[in-house]
Order: sequence, then C-alpha cells, then structure tokens
Amino acid sequence: MVQPSTSAYLLGGLLGLFLILPVQMTQTPASMCTPLKTLNNSLSHRRRYMKHNFPINYTIRVHHNEIFKVSSISKMKSYVEGLEDLVLQRLWFQVNQGVLKKIIRVLPERHPSRPYTAELERRFRDLEGVFVQSHPAEVFQQELPETIQDTWDRLTEEPDRVPPSSWRSASPKSLLDNLCHTMHCLFSECFDSTEAQRDYCVVSHRRKGRKKELELRS
Ligand SMILES: *[C@@H]1O[C@H](CO)[C@@H](O)[C@H](O)[C@H]1NC(C)=O
Ligand SMILES: *[C@@H]1O[C@H](CO)[C@@H](O)[C@H](O)[C@H]1NC(C)=O
Repeated sequence: MVQPSTSAYLLGGLLGLFLILPVQMTQTPASMCTPLKTLNNSLSHRRRYMKHNFPINYTIRVHHNEIFKVSSISKMKSYVEGLEDLVLQRLWFQVNQGVLKKIIRVLPERHPSRPYTAELERRFRDLEGVFVQSHPAEVFQQELPETIQDTWDRLTEEPDRVPPSSWRSASPKSLLDNLCHTMHCLFSECFDSTEAQRDYCVVSHRRKGRKKELELRS
C-alpha cells in the first residue's frame, strides 16, 4: 500500500555497507535555516487547520514510533550512547514524512485543511532536499545504531505486516505539535532557543514521566 519514497531509499539505503566515517557533531547547516523557518511559519497555523477543521476528538491511526516527541528524543539519547543529532534528524524526516502522508490520506479532496496540509508537505520536502544536499552523501550511508535501525525498520514495514499492538490513535494536531517541538530541539541553531529551551529538549521526559512514548526495544 505504502510505497517507500525516494528519500527512504536515499536515507535508508546502503545499509549493508560497513562504512564508519567520523562525522562532526552536527551543527545545523545555515542553509537549512530558511526552509526551517518557512516550515515553522506554516506550523503556526496548525491549530486552526488541524483542530478546528476536524470533528472533536478526531484521531488517525499511526505507528507507535510515529508518536515522536521531545521525550522520545531524550529517551533515545539515553538508550544510545553518543547518539548523533544527525541520526536523530534523519529519523525525524523519516517519521514526519509518514505522518504528513497519513494526514493527507484522510483528507477528502475538498476538505478545508487540504491546501494547508499539501503546502506543509511541500515545505517539508523542500527542507528535506536542503538537508540532503547540505551533507556529504557518505553520512547517509553510515550504519545506524542498532536501536535506531530497528525503529527505522518498523516505520518502513508494510502496513499489513505491522502487528496490531503497534498501532496508536493520535489527533492530527498532536502529531503536528510533536513535529514542531522536536524540530525546535533537533535544529535548535536555527531557532533562537534560549538555554532554558535547550534544557527542555533534554529533560522534559523526566518531568512529564509519561509512558508509551516511543517503545524502543532495548
Ligand atoms: C516559529 O513560529 C512561532 C509561532 O508558532 C514564532 O513565535 C517563532 O518566532 C518562529 N520562529 C522562527 C525562528 O521563525
Ligand atoms: C472528547 O474526549 C474527551 C476526553 O477523552 C471526552 O471527555 C469528550 O467527551 C470527548 N468529546 C466527544 C464529543 O466525543
């Protein structure tokens, strides 16, 4: 049903290579800041288009790994020693590409949120294009840490092979909230994040202490 996209191939391919290159701890390339801010601007209208235009308590079915929150990032960082931001950024693209597709899929052609969502997806793809261009191709061929690879494989599994227990219900608005908040954490150099916000990106899961965010296998 779901065609793996070109970028999934781009990013996910060549996993057989045992090519470990030293990668600098990532600074978000400056070229990404403009498309990131453009996406951020679109996201500022998400309440109207993702909540008000939907029935109350409307949810869509997503894979539990697609509920990718700030706390999921902290969790992965605590599971995987020395986890690079670049790896998390790749995962962020993979996750949210799927999320946007799923939201678009439930919107009828004439739904009032359709043009908004389509534009959001376009902006997201533009950003992904810049992301891919601003890193050497080798970084996308690097082997991912096992836990991350596992998460990745589950996300790209054929929907009919996903065990029923892996599905979750989530509102479109909450999914875009996650997209926005994690974007601010993973690409913080492009947003004027204060010290306090950066701390939030690291410790929020401890304060909230909720379960079932990202059910990583250990
Ligand atoms: C991102 O969007 C928010 C509104 O949702 C805005 O307050 C903030 O200034 C924007 N940040 C940048 C860097 O554009
Ligand atoms: C929406 O969800 C809330 C919380 O679960 C519930 O209290 C409320 O009755 C629901 N509203 C509708 C219209 O289903």
